[in-house]
Amino acid sequence: MSKLAVYPGSFDPITRGHEDLIRRGLVFGDRIVVAVAASAGKSPLFTLEERVALAKAAVGGDERIEVRSFDGLLVDFARQIGAGVIVRGLRYVSDFEYEYQMALMNRKLEGAIETVFLVPAFDLTYLSSSLVREVARYNGDVSGLVHPAVLAALKQKFRGG
Ligand code: PNS
Repeated sequence: MSKLAVYPGSFDPITRGHEDLIRRGLVFGDRIVVAVAASAGKSPLFTLEERVALAKAAVGGDERIEVRSFDGLLVDFARQIGAGVIVRGLRYVSDFEYEYQMALMNRKLEGAIETVFLVPAFDLTYLSSSLVREVARYNGDVSGLVHPAVLAALKQKFRGG
C-alpha cells in the first residue's frame, strides 16, 4: 500500500521555502498532498482558488505531489485522504511553540497520525509568505523567492499587471 504524507498550510502565497519542504517531505511518503487551508488568517491576500492554482503552478509536473484545498480540521482531512503523516517546517525557535502545540492537539484529536518537522534549506530559512507579501507590496524584488507564476500574481495584485 502506498504511503501518503500531508503538508498543510495557508500558502498565501507558496514560496520557494514551501517548495523545498514539499520535496523533502517525500521521504515520509510515496506521495505528498499539499493541503491548502480554506481559512488562512484574517484576510488572505490570495483567494483559496488562487492559492491552490499558484501552488499547482509551483509544484506541478511531479506526479507524487498533489495540491488540494481543505476546510475544517486538518486531521479530518488527513484521515479522509488516508495520510499517516503531517509534515510541517521549522525555521526558528520562535516557530516551535505554536508548532508543538498544534502537533499535540492534532495527536489528541487523531492519535494515529504523526506530525514530523523538517528544516528547510539553510538559504531559505528566513523566508515566509508574510515577508514575501510585504516586500512585494512595496515593489521589492522577490523574484528569487517565489515561482515565476507567483511573482506574476503578486505583480498583478499590487500593481495590476
Ligand atoms: O501556513 P500556516 O498558516 O502556518 O498553516 C496553519 C494550518 C493551516 C496548518 C493550521 O492552521 C491548520 O491546520 N488549520 C486547519 C484547522 C485545524 O485543524 N486547526 C487545529 C490545528 S491544532
